[in-house]
Amino acid sequence: MELRKRKLILDVDTGSDDALAIMTALLCPEAFDLLGICTVNGNRPVENTTENTLRVVELLGAQTPVIRGCASPLVAQIDPLRSRRRRLEEGRDADGDLVAYHAEYLPLPPAKGSALPGAYAPIWYIDTLMRQAEKVTLVMVGPLTNFAIAYRIEPRILDHVAEIVIMGGGLYEHNSTAAAEFNIFTDPEAAAILFECGEQVPLTVMPLDATHRANLRPCHAELFKSWHTAVGDFVGAEICERIRAYNLLQPLHEPDIAPIHDALCILYLLDPSIITELRTVRADVVCGGIADGETVFDTRHFTDAPRNCRVCLNTNEEKFAQLMVDILSRAKSR
Ligand code: BDR
Ligand code: CA
Repeated sequence: MELRKRKLILDVDTGSDDALAIMTALLCPEAFDLLGICTVNGNRPVENTTENTLRVVELLGAQTPVIRGCASPLVAQIDPLRSRRRRLEEGRDADGDLVAYHAEYLPLPPAKGSALPGAYAPIWYIDTLMRQAEKVTLVMVGPLTNFAIAYRIEPRILDHVAEIVIMGGGLYEHNSTAAAEFNIFTDPEAAAILFECGEQVPLTVMPLDATHRANLRPCHAELFKSWHTAVGDFVGAEICERIRAYNLLQPLHEPDIAPIHDALCILYLLDPSIITELRTVRADVVCGGIADGETVFDTRHFTDAPRNCRVCLNTNEEKFAQLMVDILSRAKSR
């Protein structure tokens, strides 16, 4: 397939699946000119997600700038009920061993470098986007706080955005509460701002309905481990840990699968045919109350409010796994 090389910014809360998203983007330099990676509070506090992001960048020997972002959501701290409704993020298996979707620190050597000194993600977005001649693609796979603040400060940044892809939300699938997915639930007001942006720039949403079909399995973990390299060991271990976490904390439609939610956004940009069901709809976010953080996708077009996103609802699972293996194999010897 003929690919146009895109300027790209990633926004992450690294995080095991974020790590694999970063790796796939870095390993496709023919497709992406990665301007920077912004970090945010989410899977872990922003200090950890920043350090974890640096570790992943260094694992691949890349020089991509990492920009520290927001330490907390826009308003969640003043709604104490929100934090009490959260799902369990970690637990203990039958042997008493800790199991978590995302380790406090990824099992990689401590970063030698640091985040861009004196830079903060919302301001960096504005400075970087406003001076771009070519429009930039944004992929956000954590809570959406950084860009929401940037857009509120300087709405003209949208003139420099080609499209936005976010991992978040769910039509039928949820993972933080009975109504909400983690990234949106962590900062619903920021998500509402992103859906507002979707009225002006193309916005693609990758909810759990698609990402629960974007899985790697024990056979993939074994393949990566068989390389006996730093990259192979790391990827293999992360797949195994995610499988353990899902089996224990959030059993899915089948056992022994590890959804790699965030990487699906990158793979979708590389090969949109990986998504097998996609609808153009109006999406809104519930802020507060029993369905706090729910994404409401109007798939039956009840409202005449402008359609503001394309929502991906299913994934070609074989294609996803094959593309992940192909891309990660580029780092087989590292
Ligand atoms: C999302 O939440 C995080 O735990 C993952 O990194 C992913 O971005 C899935 O709901
Ligand atoms: Ca994430």
